[in-house]
Amino acid sequence: MSSALDWVACPGRHAGGDITVPGDKSVSHRALMLGGIASGATIVRGFLESEDCLATMAAMQAMGVRVDRGSDGSVRVAGAGLRGLRAPGRPLDMGNAGTAMRLFTGLLAGQGFDSVLVGDSSLMKRPMERVAAPLRLMGAAIETSGGRPPVRIAGGRLLRGIDYRLEVASAQVKSAILLAGLYADGPTSVTEPAVTRDHTERMLRAFGVPVAVEGSRVTVEPRPLQGCEVEVPGDFSSAAFFLVAATIAGRGPLRLRNVGINPTRTGLLDILRQMGARIEVTCERRAGDEPVADLVVHPARLRGIEVPAALVPLAIDEFPVLFVAAALADGETTVTGAAELRVKESDRIGVMAEGLRALGARVEPRPDGMWVRGGDLAGGVIDSHGDHRIAMSFAVAAACATGPVRIRDVANVATSFPDFVGIARRAGLELAAEEGA
Ligand code: S3P
Repeated sequence: MSSALDWVACPGRHAGGDITVPGDKSVSHRALMLGGIASGATIVRGFLESEDCLATMAAMQAMGVRVDRGSDGSVRVAGAGLRGLRAPGRPLDMGNAGTAMRLFTGLLAGQGFDSVLVGDSSLMKRPMERVAAPLRLMGAAIETSGGRPPVRIAGGRLLRGIDYRLEVASAQVKSAILLAGLYADGPTSVTEPAVTRDHTERMLRAFGVPVAVEGSRVTVEPRPLQGCEVEVPGDFSSAAFFLVAATIAGRGPLRLRNVGINPTRTGLLDILRQMGARIEVTCERRAGDEPVADLVVHPARLRGIEVPAALVPLAIDEFPVLFVAAALADGETTVTGAAELRVKESDRIGVMAEGLRALGARVEPRPDGMWVRGGDLAGGVIDSHGDHRIAMSFAVAAACATGPVRIRDVANVATSFPDFVGIARRAGLELAAEEGA
């Protein structure tokens, strides 16, 4: 990605109004993958047209899956069947998308052809052995380069079902094993050390695959998938920026419509409420297999807390914006048990600590979290290190800063939230894109 795009975000406690955030990234990736290996058509409504999900779409197309856009904005995937994918003929480029690379590693482990997965400079540094190692136990032939991409998968292996205990709480690793399990000779089980997002389990069931959950152990049966309709809820992780903005910089209530509230995703709601936020969950309903609601956020003064470790995997993508909330709260906030933040699109502990310090905050990064003393934030210049969630978090911070904040290297926001600037302005944030230096 080009890094020549900055944002200039200005102070102004104006957040409020009524917005709808785009579709869920995790659900959109999965809908394309499962639709592509199902029999018959899958119609995806509310699909997230972001760079990450378009990388997954391009990969499915490169393997012979036909994908069409309907005039109503829906995406129609003509399933090739469980054994119907064909050799892509070139490395599959996942761009910035860790979810795509990890889930495809599982999906491709059971195919009859060889494949190679590559990505952008950030993705090429991310750990892949956590996925490759359990898949090898199933009989897959996978090579990484010193634990990182490119990931080379040799096809034509017969996979066996395994009973695997995950070392890290990771929905991506769990999902990769479950997808490989569709090609195994018997059931495959994964036990997680802590609850992580369960979109794969829910969606596999919707496609007709038996999935049993007993406590922290998930078991999938190898069965063909049947195409279906998938309704993608609004992404809670995109809503998160506005939950914080409307709490700390709100002038009136902000309503966020149609947000996914799957309980394996909403840890930030619990954390913010413990800090004193006032967020109502209204109009609860189902979007297919996922629960959704409208969230109404009222301005509130936040106070620091010790974030309970059990909530960490349920809020794993929300820590950049939570650190901003903590920096503007009364008192101290401590996050522990979050070492995974160091291996996301950037080192989110190091990069957030650097950025918050640049705005005058008192923070202490730790190997598995951060200590933050709340206070005021000044204006300044932030480097997002090409990480979409860092860029959006500092756009929220700027709303409460005492001067403008320039955020460098924001082009990657298009990986998850292409119209962030438009929606943020609608919600009252003052934000403009400018050519970078
Ligand atoms: C995701 C799982 C999480 C999350 C990522 C999306 C998924 O990653 O951070 O943005 O869709 O399964 P980990 O499994 O590495 O925690």
